[in-house]
Amino acid sequence: DGVVLGIDLGGTKIALGLVDRRGKVLADVTLPTEATAGPAAAMDRLAAAARQLAARADRKPLAAGVGAPGPLLLPEGRFTGTPNLPGWNGFALRDELARRLGIPVAVNNDANAAALAEARLGAGRGAAVMVYVTVGTGIGGGLVVGGKLFSGVNGNGVEIGHTTLDPDGPPCGCGNRGCWEALASGPALARLAGERLGPSPRRPGGQWTAKDLLEAAAAGDPAARAVADEYARRLGVGLANAVNAFNPDRLVLGGGVMARYDLLAPAMEAEMRRRALPANAAAVALAPATLGKRAGLVGAALLAWDLLDEPGPGR
Ligand code: BGC
Ligand code: NA
Ligand code: ZN
Repeated sequence: DGVVLGIDLGGTKIALGLVDRRGKVLADVTLPTEATAGPAAAMDRLAAAARQLAARADRKPLAAGVGAPGPLLLPEGRFTGTPNLPGWNGFALRDELARRLGIPVAVNNDANAAALAEARLGAGRGAAVMVYVTVGTGIGGGLVVGGKLFSGVNGNGVEIGHTTLDPDGPPCGCGNRGCWEALASGPALARLAGERLGPSPRRPGGQWTAKDLLEAAAAGDPAARAVADEYARRLGVGLANAVNAFNPDRLVLGGGVMARYDLLAPAMEAEMRRRALPANAAAVALAPATLGKRAGLVGAALLAWDLLDEPGPGR
């Protein structure tokens, strides 16, 4: 039975695993990205880790798939001004990795890869049109229609975190201002908490984190709760835009912030339903992602299987 290598390449961590045709992870390992040391060094360590993993499991992968933060250029699989990996601009991820691993490599956006995994194996199963939104350090999106991933003309379809919510809003890592990501990412929640509540009593420096704020809200602190609701409404505004743009029957929410889905869902969903066209709102059901931290890795492996199934140039 064959296996492929799935790689979830993040700004701080790289997760890689050997995955069978049904999406089962047979062995996996995580290493630090050490992004500031540059992409070539990271690729060398990644390739070494992949060789160790293959030796340990005694399985040779047939192909590899990578989910990486965008914006990217597909199908060539090159970084292009990616805010979460500063200094990696222009790096030819697909070819550099294929050379080191000696197998074909498919590259796609991290959120697109996770969307594919949720659609085929997770909370999006059975949906006709599934939109996936991940909320963490950034906000990413993915669209799967009839089991097929939509990546746009050069891989940047559904870069939904960079849709503008406020023309005069705070600057975003992409160069624009007032992006949904600038207003509603995890770091944006930490900033909002500081603005509304002053310094955090939880840390010596007084810095809020998204996690601390959501924890305080979950514990019943009314001021933290109000900030969480205000933040959840910002999430809902962006979701209404997604629902109107794509008319999905399923909206799947993942990423670190959505670990507190139960806390955020009521205000977030109400805001989405208030703002979306009634016909679009009526058609859509919300669901938390079910594959957790593994979604990116598994989705990347599915990209590798798809590459083997449909080989040829232009993919
Ligand atoms: C990037 C997306 C990515 C998301 C989550 C955003 O800043 O533009 O490509 O999917 O962060 O990592
Ligand atoms: Na995307
Ligand atoms: Zn942006």
